[in-house]
Amino acid sequence: MGRDVIVACDFKSAEETFKFLDNFQEEKPFLKIGMELYYAEGPAIVREIKRRGHKIFLDLKLHDIPNTVKKAMAVLSNLDVDICNLHAAGTVNMMKAAIEGLTRADGTRPLLIAVTQLTSTDQASMESDLLIKEPIDEVVMHYAAKAKEAGLDGVVCSPLEAGKVHERCGSDFLTVTPGVRFADNDKGDQKRVMTPAEAKLIGSDYIVVGRPITGASDPVEAYRRCVREFVD
Ligand code: C5P
Repeated sequence: MGRDVIVACDFKSAEETFKFLDNFQEEKPFLKIGMELYYAEGPAIVREIKRRGHKIFLDLKLHDIPNTVKKAMAVLSNLDVDICNLHAAGTVNMMKAAIEGLTRADGTRPLLIAVTQLTSTDQASMESDLLIKEPIDEVVMHYAAKAKEAGLDGVVCSPLEAGKVHERCGSDFLTVTPGVRFADNDKGDQKRVMTPAEAKLIGSDYIVVGRPITGASDPVEAYRRCVREFVD
């Protein structure tokens, strides 16, 4: 899969989601389904969105003992999603087990990417709550390297980190980056943002864009603007 724009479907119900998707008559955007929508509607929403022809990044961030993650990943693999994810903090053993679970009998599997440190975690909370004393940038790069060692396909990271991740883990190791805003957009609660054009320059493989598209007065035009700036 090449560079693409992934639209974060941060809606609370199937009804709201389909009302939004019905705006798109020509394009079939790649969509991210997160915990809120998945826990509200269950696997049925994934099947229905697949049936409508969208690619899906199922953002459930698994983190448990290896055996449990392996079995849960086998279920997600059967849902035929395109990308799923987990927390690298679950260790290399957990990440390897996840890949085993995801891999279908014919050898195919969805892409698997890791969350390193959440962007809501800062140096102070990492030190006091997690007792990790290293600089947070190094922790992020270390977790990315561990994800690569376990055989994962990439990481979710800030667009500001994408270049460094590629330097450390190789240009084919995927960087999926939220925190994207148009130059003339309100940042909302995102602190470190980049425009789609900047994310392209720095080498992000996928940008995840929510409110600049879902909250736009013309979501289709906002999506097309992202594609023009990031993909074309
Ligand atoms: O609306 P907005 O463009 O800020 O949405 C970004 C999406 O990416 C949301 O679904 C958010 O949960 C997700 N995300 C993020 N930052 C991370 C990881 C995920 O914004 N570090």
